[in-house]
This record gives sequence, C-alpha cells and structure tokens, in this order.
Amino acid sequence: MTLLIHAPPSFRPELYRELIAKQAPDIAVRMRNEAGAPEDIVFAAGWNPPDGFWHQFPNLRGITSLGAGVDSLLRDQDIPPNLPIARLVDGQMARMMAEYVVLAVLSHRRGWLEHVRDPAGAGWGVSLARPGNQVLILGLGHLGTSVAQALQPLGFQVSGWVRTPRESPLPEVRLHHGRTGLQEALPHADYLVSLLPLTPETQNLLDHKLLRQAKPGAYLINTGRGQTVVEQDLLDALDSGLLNGACLDVFQTEPLPPEHPFLAHPRVMVTPHISSVTPPDSVVPQIIENYRRALAGEPLLNLIDRARGY
Ligand code: GLV
Repeated sequence: MTLLIHAPPSFRPELYRELIAKQAPDIAVRMRNEAGAPEDIVFAAGWNPPDGFWHQFPNLRGITSLGAGVDSLLRDQDIPPNLPIARLVDGQMARMMAEYVVLAVLSHRRGWLEHVRDPAGAGWGVSLARPGNQVLILGLGHLGTSVAQALQPLGFQVSGWVRTPRESPLPEVRLHHGRTGLQEALPHADYLVSLLPLTPETQNLLDHKLLRQAKPGAYLINTGRGQTVVEQDLLDALDSGLLNGACLDVFQTEPLPPEHPFLAHPRVMVTPHISSVTPPDSVVPQIIENYRRALAGEPLLNLIDRARGY
C-alpha cells in the first residue's frame, strides 16, 4: 500500500517524502517517475498530472491536490468519476495569501512603487496616496476570509461575492451572490480581489462586460486563477482608464510568455504565482490523515464537491 506523489520539481516532492517518512514511517511513498507495481498505489497527492494518468492505478481510493485549488486535477476529463478528491486547507497558506493581498492593496493605495521608482517625482513631501477603501473579494472561501480579516483592521470596508447564496463567514462582511449580486457590488469597489477557483462558471468571468461595471479607476488583484480573466479585455480596460491598475499573480498561460504585454505594462504588477505556495511541513499532516481515511473508507478532510468543481 503506497502513497504516490505526482508533483513538479518546484513543489519539492522529495521534501514530502522526507516529512512523511518522519511523521508516518509505516507509509510507503513513491514518486511519479519511480518504477513499481501500479496496484500498490492506494492514495495520491498530485498537481497537474497528464490526462488519463489515474487510470493506471486500479486500487486508488482517493487523491489530494497539492494546492488549495483542484483545477489541475479536474482538468482531466478522464478522472474516475467517483474517486474522492480533496484540496489543501492550511492556515499558513491563508496567511501568505493575506500578506500578498495586503501588500498589493497598500502599495497601490500609497503610491508605493511610484515613490520608490522616482522619490522626488511628485515633489518632496507630496504623497501619491489614493482615496477609496472599499474592497470586494470575489470568492470568499478559506483564503478570501483570511484576506478580509487582514484588511479590516487597516480600515478597509470589505464585502464578498460568491456564486451561490450562503451566509457570510464574517459578520461585518456583506456577502453578495449570483450575477445580480455582482452587478450590485462591482460599482462600489475601489479594489477588486479575485480569489475565484477555476470552474466552468468562472472561466473568463472577468471579461469586458464585467469590467465595464467596475468603479472607474478601480484596481484589480488576481491571485485566484488566470483563466478567470480575459486578458485582452483587462488590457483594454487598463488602457482606456476604466481600471487604474492591476496586480496579477496568475495568468492564462504560466509561466507568462516573455513577450506578454502585461510584463511591460506600466500599470500592471506581475508576480510568478507566488501569492500562496504550498508549505510541505504545514500540509503533510493532512495528507497523512487523508491517506489513512482513504484506507479506512472514511470521508476525506476538505473533500471537494465534484459537481461544483471546488
Ligand atoms: C495554488 O495556486 C494553489 O492552488 O494552491
């Protein structure tokens, strides 16, 4: 009975093996490129496997994503339909996400980069601080809630948007839902923070129609998935002055091609999908727990809803 790890080198897969060996020496671990009988594999931790990959393991009882998102697993149309899939829910990842978004919001609000690039440009003692403290978080799940909690004490008024109605996780955060809710909330937001998962419903959701409804001069931060944004529509919105700027961590194509217009755009900040990276030491206990649950036939922690796609 073996746990398979399928992850690119940037995830430091060997570190997972070391941590599992220390914390659960009874669990055999195999890496994606190691030989062995496919029948041994009973549980897997994966990121971005090739299509059809899981069919070779007849005894597989569950998979956990190695990230907060599961789109890299569900992209595979061939993934066995009844296989339980879990995602990672981790406090350290939530803190990292909150730090990133606070950094992006405050940098824009205080005109940080303009001041740093050209300290005397606006004049000594002249602040480029911008007004506006309304933040709309698209996708108010575990990560979005952490972002809201970090922004509120700094004086930001935070609201959230989710697809389907539910109660707000934070009493002071108004939660909008559905298309109408989005139309209501968008024109008030100075900062639009997208933490949306990639699903058929969110793919290309941030297009010209939606961006046109944003408050003139709003600032977009995308740390969810690049495929939720129509990139040409975003460029048009920036160039027409509809949006003031954007801080983007995720893209339709990653790594971002060197000739991509975002890289040279004066009002776009680009980071290489680092807003929240999976910390192996923090998530290994939940991977071990889910291996044991899968073996015992118990429901996995942080099980996703296959129909919803997250
Ligand atoms: C990163 O994008 C993740 O899903 O954790």
